[in-house]
Amino acid sequence: RIVYVNGRFVPYEEATISIMDRGFLFGDGIYEVSAVVNGRLVDNEAHLARLDRSLGEIGIRNPHDAAGWTRLEEDLVARNGLTEGLVYMEVTRGVHERDFPFPPAEVAPTVVMFTQAKTILASPLAERGAKVITVEDLRWKRRDIKSVALLAQVLAKQQAAAAGVAEAWMHEDGLVTEGGSSTAFIITEDGRIVTRPLSTALLPGITRRAVMRLAEENGLTVEERAFTVEEALSAAEAFYTSASAFVMPVTEIDGTRVGGGQPGPLTRRLRGLYLEMAG
Ligand code: PDD
Repeated sequence: RIVYVNGRFVPYEEATISIMDRGFLFGDGIYEVSAVVNGRLVDNEAHLARLDRSLGEIGIRNPHDAAGWTRLEEDLVARNGLTEGLVYMEVTRGVHERDFPFPPAEVAPTVVMFTQAKTILASPLAERGAKVITVEDLRWKRRDIKSVALLAQVLAKQQAAAAGVAEAWMHEDGLVTEGGSSTAFIITEDGRIVTRPLSTALLPGITRRAVMRLAEENGLTVEERAFTVEEALSAAEAFYTSASAFVMPVTEIDGTRVGGGQPGPLTRRLRGLYLEMAG
């Protein structure tokens, strides 16, 4: 397995970063995850644009332009012979003696990339549908930034794992914000696809945007508004989206079956449309 660290492709076992790395000490860094299907990156330009924006929001210099990132990603995918899975990219504020304010401007960001093989297209979970639990959203107030400080999501997703379910949907003031690592959607009885509008309360999902576009192109109605946990429990269908799950049907929320406990027809259609686009 070959990984990328600070300008070099090296065997995973040989890749090291400093104990003074600010990503390690402070969670002071940004990450991205892009899917790979049939050896090709999915919607990668949008992921790179979000990476650039996240870095800008916290004042880390983006070490590469989109073309430079793409070359590195494609090189890494090829070196690992990856046909289906994920590319993980992380940029931290670099290595410096521990001190909270930013280090001097000449300190270079740390860059790490690796791939993970994963079955995304022929997912058994997507066939039978995922169960989710709801948990309180304990995160900070800038969730639009894809920060590596993921403790609240680690705790939420551990609760999900302990409950034997695939994802945790987080809520705040009774309203669903998003999944631990995904965007939450419901579908109403009259076929409207509902997802929360973008704000600092949630990550602007790349898969979310693509699914909304595909839905509208196919004559389906998308409604951007926040929804409550109660509304989700009685929805006709539910699903979540992410680079690693694409469109994942939800068949149970907090032990209550959604849509008769089967992946819903509109959700299946959206998954099909997304797979067609990605493949
Ligand atoms: N997570 N919301 C959160 C909190 C996320 O962490 C993610 C992605 C999403 C979906 O965004 P996108 O469609 O751009 O992948 C929404 C990645 C996959 C992860 O942390 O592994």
